[in-house]
Order: sequence, then structure tokens, then C-alpha cells
Amino acid sequence: MSRLAVLIVAAGKGERAGTALPKQYEKLAGRPILRRTVEAFAGLPVHVVIGPGQGELAAQALAGLDLPAPVTGGATRQQSVRLGLEALAKDAPDFVLIHDAARPLISRKVIEDVISALENGADGALPMVAVADTLRRKDADGHWTLVPRDALYRAQTPQGFAFGKILDAHRAHADEEVTDDVALAELAGLKVEMVEGEEKNIKVTRKEDFALAEKLLGGGDVRTATGYDVHKFTDGDHIMLCGIKVAHDHGLEGHSDADVGLHAITDALLGCIGEGDIGQHFPPTDERWRGAASWKFLDHAASLVAAKGGLISHVDVTIICERPKVGPHRDAMKAKIAEILKLEPSRVSVKATTTEGLGFTGRREGIAASAIATVKL
Ligand code: CTP
Ligand code: MG
Repeated sequence: MSRLAVLIVAAGKGERAGTALPKQYEKLAGRPILRRTVEAFAGLPVHVVIGPGQGELAAQALAGLDLPAPVTGGATRQQSVRLGLEALAKDAPDFVLIHDAARPLISRKVIEDVISALENGADGALPMVAVADTLRRKDADGHWTLVPRDALYRAQTPQGFAFGKILDAHRAHADEEVTDDVALAELAGLKVEMVEGEEKNIKVTRKEDFALAEKLLGGGDVRTATGYDVHKFTDGDHIMLCGIKVAHDHGLEGHSDADVGLHAITDALLGCIGEGDIGQHFPPTDERWRGAASWKFLDHAASLVAAKGGLISHVDVTIICERPKVGPHRDAMKAKIAEILKLEPSRVSVKATTTEGLGFTGRREGIAASAIATVKL
């Protein structure tokens, strides 16, 4: 196969989206948009163009991916593409695909169709979708004129080109402002072929597009797993339960702070992503965890879920003991767990039960906790 490079332009400011970070670094269903876009091209040699001062954001978004150092882009998309192409020129590929970082829903099919068009001899290839809505144009006199839509299409990316030809087009027409690379290719007289784009290949542009893109991503896996933990009573005047200090006539024995509630939830989350159990991540033989606050374990499990692109949809824990009473602390426990997991409190549930005097919990020898978690991957 011919040598191909993929140029992903991510140097914009995302002003229309108005998010805290430039939109390409914001998370979409748990994973930064830029990361999702880069991953859509997995197996192909990707080069990313980022804005000045976005190095740290890009490093975080792309952590662990095997990519060359990003190229710094310019003030317009056109300039960013040009700078990206210039950076590739010293080791010029035969073909280049130029893609917006803001289109994370690009499918393998469209990518392959664009590549095929190039391999079949086109100078350029452009994915497009037919316009479905009735269109009207506002005229200077305020009248809305019907525009026949039959021949109208919307252009998407990735736009593919013979590398040398698109680089020459960018160099020759740097002073003419255009909104995509095919427009430049045409100024340079290149032969561009149309391929079928996809409706779902949206460009995340405004804030509301995030919710739409998450819906379109949909169809992911839903994983559920349980966790269970027991700690024995010992001398003391309080216990830690679901991150809250609860006064009691005993303490709980354990290597860490013995918070059975948080331990059970931690195991449930680890279970959802098949990452073993709490003992494996925080061995009781490790001195670092002596007396440790258990929110650290839960926080670690949550970060492992996030690293896999998972979204926690819900956690539910049942505390099993005769005493202390959980009811008075339930709201504080819910709020604490929600805070550690960065969830809405409505996605956290804390329940309690006794065992009617039966078994070790009934004999008040210790406390048990049982949890379940649901994660969308
Ligand atoms: N882009 C770029 N360099 C620029 C401007 C845009 O690399 N100077 C990239 C964006 O990061 C995005 C793609 O070009 O992936 C399409 O641009 P657009 O959707 O307009 O993104 P922004 O320019 O970031 O958004 P806005 O126009 O709302 O500020
Ligand atoms: Mg823009």
C-alpha cells in the first residue's frame, strides 16, 4: 500500500462551543474529543496539529498513545493545515488525509472510502452528505427565497489528497481564505472525487453538539459488577463508613482505615473493568497503605475506569450491621461518595440493613458491605 499520513487539526479555540477548555480537549462520554478522533484512525500514522500553548492539554488528552510530537498550528484552520503539511514535507508520504479533531465520530468506512478513491487515482477525495432539509436563503430585501436542495451537499472531513499536490495548492494560495482543503485543491485545478459521508460524522461545534455526539456514540457496553467487604470490630471510639467518621463504641480493624463501604464500591468498580480487586492494587502488606484513607482507593478505581473511557452511571452500597445506625449519616455518605467519584448524588445510593441478630453481624462482631456498580464503556 502507498504511504499515507493522517493530519488531525486541533489548533482551534472552540469559541462557538464556549466550553471551559477548547472543545477538542473536553471530554465526550468520558474521553477527550481529540483522543477519540485520534483513536478512530488507530493503526494509521497520525500527526496532530495543536494551538500555541496547548501542549499540556494535548499531552494529557493523548497520554499513552504512540504519536509523534504535535506540530504547532496557526490562527486559521487553513494555516494550521499548511503548517502540518510543511512538517510532513521532509518525509513526504504519497497521500494525506486531513481531518478535523472536532469530528470524533468518523467511521472506518468513510476513512477507507477516501483512501480507496486516492489509490484509484483521484487527486483528492471528499466525503459529503446530501442536504435533507428544505432550504431558504434570506435576501437583501428580507424575503426568504426557496433554494432547491436536490443538488446540494454538505462537505465533511477527512479530505484526502495526493500529498505533493495539496501542499503545492496550500503554498500557492496561502493568501486566499477558504474554509476547507478541497476548496484550495479546486483553486489549484485538482480533480476531486466525492465519496459518501455519514450523517453521524458531525463536527462538534456548539455546546449542544456534545449531548448529540454522546447519543450518537451510544450503543457502548454496559458493565455491572459487585463488591463485598467485611471488617472486624476492635477497641475504639469511631469508625469510618462511606468516607464519614461515625462515632461508635468500637473501631474497625484493618490495614487501612477499614472503611467497608468504600472498599465494597471500589471492588465493584474494579469488577466493571476487569481490573482485579482492591487487595491487588493496594496490598495489605504494603506499608504505604497503613492507616490510609479509603477515598484514595475509590479515587484510584474511578481513574482506572476513566482511563478506559468508562462513565460511571451508578453505584449502590448496602451496609450490613446492627450498630451504628446508618440512617442519620446516609445523606452525608451519599454526598461524600458522589464527591469522590465526581458524580451527581442521584447516581449514588446508600442503604443499610441488620441481620436480625443472626450471624457475625448480628452478634456485632463486625460490619459487612455489599456494593454494585454500573459503568458505560
Ligand atoms: N482548527 C485549527 N486551527 C485553527 C482553527 C481551527 O486547527 N486556527 C481546527 C479545529 O481545532 C477543529 C477544526 O479545525 O478541529 C474545525 O474548526 P472549527 O470547528 O471551526 O473549530 P474551532 O475553530 O476551534 O471553533 P470555533 O470556530 O467555534 O472557534
Ligand atoms: Mg473555527
